[in-house]
Amino acid sequence: METDGHFARKDLLGLEDLSSEEILTVLQAAKSFQEISRREVKKVPTLRGQTVINLFYEPSTRTRTSFELAAKRLSADVVNFTVSESSAVKGETLVDTARNIESMHSDIIVVRHPVSGAPHLLARIVKSAVINAGDGTHEHPSQGLLDLFTIQEHKGKLEGLKVLIVGDISHSRVARSNIYGMRTLGLQVTVCGPPTLIPVEMERMGVRVTYDFDDALTKTDVIMMLRIQMERQHGGLYPSLREYARLFGLNRDRLNRAKPDVLIMHPGPVNRGVEISPEIADCTRSLILEQVSNGVAVRMALLYLLSRGAYGKAAH
Ligand code: CP
Repeated sequence: METDGHFARKDLLGLEDLSSEEILTVLQAAKSFQEISRREVKKVPTLRGQTVINLFYEPSTRTRTSFELAAKRLSADVVNFTVSESSAVKGETLVDTARNIESMHSDIIVVRHPVSGAPHLLARIVKSAVINAGDGTHEHPSQGLLDLFTIQEHKGKLEGLKVLIVGDISHSRVARSNIYGMRTLGLQVTVCGPPTLIPVEMERMGVRVTYDFDDALTKTDVIMMLRIQMERQHGGLYPSLREYARLFGLNRDRLNRAKPDVLIMHPGPVNRGVEISPEIADCTRSLILEQVSNGVAVRMALLYLLSRGAYGKAAH
């Protein structure tokens, strides 16, 4: 596997400081890994002998499973660390846990943690490559990359496209990573939602803000719906879920007013009937499951590039 681009990093902690060349290198590598998952024997020896640890302090279906599949399809050994069955429940800290894991000679640690910045702390203390699989409300870079990959697959380009991100922007690490990546690659991003769920820094990040979903959806190439993150909210941010769905839910009536070739995306998990109606989540224009499929290819690319990285541990 060769890429023309450049990606000499120890860790992937976010998309905020990635250059356009680095992002495009990941997307190019993902394209070349995509067909491996379609083969009868879905395995290549690229990371044979490497050890990947999935260290998840928050629940996950898509991210944890796809990092595990990505590592296994590259022939790495994978250990899934389940916090509820670990010594973390006896009070062991993240740093101690990571140091103990690394003493068993891990090569890459994939970490999800409820505290923003936890992967950055880990990256400073371990020699293993660290991949941020979601930290608090900060970033979810592999999701941002798989979303960019999916848009590129359908539109054949990224620069100049208009993207509308709708929902709970304040609590969304997916929105933040997408905004960083999209702005770097020259996409125009608009966010939409109740004023209580849109943080003040949006305009500083080069993003347009609107509270009028019906007007904004007519002008966009991509609609990205986000889940209301009830687990990170303390109430009172919108009147009721019914009212939220009425103003900011994507349904058939609204979709009829969008461009005929608009892409519908959602990172999952979906709250059906709240931010998106079941009919639209499952319609032919919805890319929700394709995003999940592409997540494996993008995570194979990340494991490959970080194993090679400046540390050059993988055999190619
Ligand atoms: N999109 C996403 O991060 O999903 P999971 O929480 O299931 O990993």
